[in-house]
Amino acid sequence: MHVLILGAGAGGGVPQWNSNSEACRRARAGERAQLTQSGLAVSADGRQWVLLNASPDLRQQIAASPALHPVQHRRHSPIVSVVLTNGDVDHVAGLLTMREGHSFSIYATEAILETLQGDRIFGVLDRSRVGFNPIEPGVAFDPAAPTSAPSGLRIEAFEVPGKVALYLEEAGAVSASDRAGVTVGLRVSSAGEEAGSICYVPGCAAIDDHVLRAVTGCQVLLFDGTLWRDDEMIRQDVGTKSGRRMGHVSMSGPDGAIARLAGIDAGRKVFVHINNTNPVLLPDSPERAEAEKAGWEIGYDGMEIRV
Ligand code: MLT
Ligand code: MN
Repeated sequence: MHVLILGAGAGGGVPQWNSNSEACRRARAGERAQLTQSGLAVSADGRQWVLLNASPDLRQQIAASPALHPVQHRRHSPIVSVVLTNGDVDHVAGLLTMREGHSFSIYATEAILETLQGDRIFGVLDRSRVGFNPIEPGVAFDPAAPTSAPSGLRIEAFEVPGKVALYLEEAGAVSASDRAGVTVGLRVSSAGEEAGSICYVPGCAAIDDHVLRAVTGCQVLLFDGTLWRDDEMIRQDVGTKSGRRMGHVSMSGPDGAIARLAGIDAGRKVFVHINNTNPVLLPDSPERAEAEKAGWEIGYDGMEIRV
């Protein structure tokens, strides 16, 4: 199976248009690579590709990835489908880039499909060409295009603690431990092989036993690396919300990803969906050294993984 990180950044990317964080400054100065917003591409055969999330930077990500370029006819794309892990802007806005008459399938939970189908701007996706397919956590599916051959991939979603997308939040209390299908992780494997699987979890509010069980035994875990610490945005004076309130567990701390996932059986562990405030983006930071010492890789745009 081929795995390509299209965008390792969280919402806003690096540099984010209105952020002057250290990582953004360095990216503008050409001292570190830029990060586009969150998404992967996976393929069983290197010919048919499935997107895991569709970020607002999708056009640029496709342009930067030769495997995703058209190769047949005048109108063609190797992208057969898009599987969504939640309804956040950084995961769905790229669907609007895919409005040029290409036939593909969208797979998402009922709750996320309802959001898309209830929003008139996504009506731009021609329903006679674009399939909207509900997925059930725990029920494996082949993320094929509406009319073509199987993709050769097998995907199973699992619910993780999360919250509704920012634009759906009502005034008042917001639970970041919602399990009503608003946030899922994905386990992806190549259908015909015993080669193994990846788990992709770009948003996760807390690592409970259900999450631990769901990600155990994968060859590569690509996990929510939004923040280093829960009060990071507040301390950097760029926001008022904690990571937990935003639906993201931090890397550090006793309940953080590094500690909670330390003992799990996974071949490689890679952080993705990394926010521009996160000090692991600075190669000379102690936080970067700590994450790497704990066995984590820091994802980057264009990172290729073979499983
Ligand atoms: C998130 O990951 O929390 C969201 O992408 C935030 C947003 O919608 O900007
Ligand atoms: Mn996000």
